Amino acid sequence: MRIHKISGLNCPEAGAVAISWAEGCETPARNFAREHRLPIINELPGWRGLCFCLQAGGWVLKDLSGEIQTPFSLRFEARHGSRGKDPLLNAMGKAQAVLDLTAGWGGDALHIALSGRRVVSVERNPVVYQLLVQAREQLGDADLAGRLTFLHLDAAGKDFSQQLNQCLNSGDAFELVYLDPMFSDRVLKSAKAKKPMYLMQRLTDTPSDTNERHLFENAMAIAQKRVVVKRGLKAPYITDSQPQGSIKSKLLRFDLYNPL
Ligand SMILES: C[S@@+](CC[C@H](N)C(=O)[O-])C[C@H]1O[C@@H](n2cnc3c(N)ncnc32)[C@H](O)[C@@H]1O
Repeated sequence: MRIHKISGLNCPEAGAVAISWAEGCETPARNFAREHRLPIINELPGWRGLCFCLQAGGWVLKDLSGEIQTPFSLRFEARHGSRGKDPLLNAMGKAQAVLDLTAGWGGDALHIALSGRRVVSVERNPVVYQLLVQAREQLGDADLAGRLTFLHLDAAGKDFSQQLNQCLNSGDAFELVYLDPMFSDRVLKSAKAKKPMYLMQRLTDTPSDTNERHLFENAMAIAQKRVVVKRGLKAPYITDSQPQGSIKSKLLRFDLYNPL
């Protein structure tokens, strides 16, 4: 079996992001800022928060507070190896086409794709999405990259199903829809040791119950056979209704729901 690893480093204290660029990259960086209504660093004198910077080698995140010196850049690494028990893949069952509604740094999507399944993974944060697309483009494995699609959409939106169909342009059907909307307390407490996750928390909105409810409703409406929700081992269910089953590991639980 193959395993993956994501490497990166940064630890910002500010939630907001300003855009900057290196020489020769101004036009695409300005276009990105305009498209996503993000401030340009020159407009924020004395800015000491996160900076999303376009350089010749691609986008990187920098922490201008100086606390963390190394810029963060997402990398997907695909390797062969043994992982022993694999609750995430067990929860996927026989599904060959998976829709992941909460991409994050793409670790789960990549792991599912490494098992040979096709994954469409949705992310609403434009900075996170841009880094996902870049990491996919830099993958050395064309087959693997071909099984991974990232989309920039709000998966909790009312019109999400229609938007999804327009993006995929094929009325693709998904046997299984996967959700991982939450940050566990454990991740929060060990923030310094898990810099990519800590950075994600600084970049993305605080998880809300309404967002989770709408994500779950959309997942149940789209999935043909199963919805899988990743939770902390002792976290409450995402909804009032009980799942049909759960697959557990030491720290995590994958709740399984059958759409009606
Ligand atoms: C805990 S992270 C997911 C981690 C991911 N499973 C991984 O392996 O890296 C949650 C992600 O879901 C995204 N998210 C939350 N609500 C969303 C929504 N309504 N639509 C799309 N993405 C959403 C957040 O921006 C964040 O990047």
